[in-house]
Amino acid sequence: MKKIIIINGPNLNLLGKREPEIYGKETLQDIMAELGECFPSLDIFHFQSNSEGAIIDLLHEYGFAANTGIVLNAGAYTHTSLAIADAISAIETPVVEVHLSNIFAREEIRHKSLIAPVCAGSVSGFGKMSYYLAIKAFEQWHK
Ligand code: DQA
Repeated sequence: MKKIIIINGPNLNLLGKREPEIYGKETLQDIMAELGECFPSLDIFHFQSNSEGAIIDLLHEYGFAANTGIVLNAGAYTHTSLAIADAISAIETPVVEVHLSNIFAREEIRHKSLIAPVCAGSVSGFGKMSYYLAIKAFEQWHK
């Protein structure tokens, strides 16, 4: 993989201010900048939206790109969005699901991911390292 698209969904623009005891004190910008420094050989593009439709549009836009991997933190849409799950099923580019928090150690409603069954893999519970591990997996993909 050469190009990585990181998609962050709803409320992740508030990282740093949002429930720091769960999501940490770093901002989304800080985390994305650090990931860029960790993987200088990869072309990393980052996108955040609070809108389900905008996330689906981006999945469609990059969904048939060669040598590309998509890292998706769909936020709460993880647990509700059949439309995002359908978009992931529809595209060819592999998608890895990530979560900062361990969704399985939280409220029961967060235990179910509608997107997990259609993703190439899932990483949950390692804070910003969840993104790092997902990108690392793509870096080694078909090597
Ligand atoms: C999250 C977990 C979701 O349950 C939650 O709705 C989020 C963030 C995470 O990164 O831990 O918005 O995806």
